[in-house]
Amino acid sequence: MPAPYRAKTAYDDGAAYDAHRHGSFRHRLIRRKEDAALAEYISHLGADNMLLLDVACGTGNALRVACGMGAAAIGLDVSLGMLRSVPEKVGDAERGVALVVGDAEHLPFADAAFDCVSAFRLIAHLPPQVCDTVMQELARTTSDAVILTHNHSVCLEYAVRRLLGLFKSRSRRKAAHPAVTVGQMRAQLRRAGLRLETLRFVAPLWQEECIVLARKRP
Ligand SMILES: C[S@@+](CC[C@H](N)C(=O)[O-])C[C@H]1O[C@@H](n2cnc3c(N)ncnc32)[C@H](O)[C@@H]1O
Repeated sequence: MPAPYRAKTAYDDGAAYDAHRHGSFRHRLIRRKEDAALAEYISHLGADNMLLLDVACGTGNALRVACGMGAAAIGLDVSLGMLRSVPEKVGDAERGVALVVGDAEHLPFADAAFDCVSAFRLIAHLPPQVCDTVMQELARTTSDAVILTHNHSVCLEYAVRRLLGLFKSRSRRKAAHPAVTVGQMRAQLRRAGLRLETLRFVAPLWQEECIVLARKRP
């Protein structure tokens, strides 16, 4: 059995994670752009009667946005420590949320059980072979849309990271999942039976993260 990758065991303290994610201008900018893109995609898809699954929901940021817009949602995460922070984060919208401890590699739901499946800040943490498995699970459990964040490689942040990586050991370099071009992203989605519909960059040519809306291929 392969050893679990770092992101699967590294997160257990929701309060510490939230303090980190709100602790710098860069992180606050990323979060603002993620929230705006998610809200835009959800209103494009239609929030009324939407049932959303947020995979690797962490402390519930995407759940807060989706349920605040009227969607009903299930949050799934491998870490109980992260899930414990969700009720406080989601606040008044809590009634529309259910939480499940589970693994993105084997989602405990039927095919096409949700209108939309999201995964924020998960894909870029996964080793390549796990990435394909998780994308297939996201595609399997949605009837229509997948919203996810990914890291793209045509930007300054990635160039600097590659440069700094030259000074790291080979194993530490291998442990970091590389960012991908938009073409490679399309190919990953296609292998899972999805097509890329829209892409928003957090900060084009500067920052790696982008937010993707993909749809099930007919
Ligand atoms: C960087 S955090 C992102 C949390 C949240 N989506 C957000 O945007 O704030 C990564 C999350 O992925 C979860 N995770 C990692 N591997 C997982 C897996 N195989 N199945 C479910 N959750 C996983 C971790 O427990 C952690 O909560």
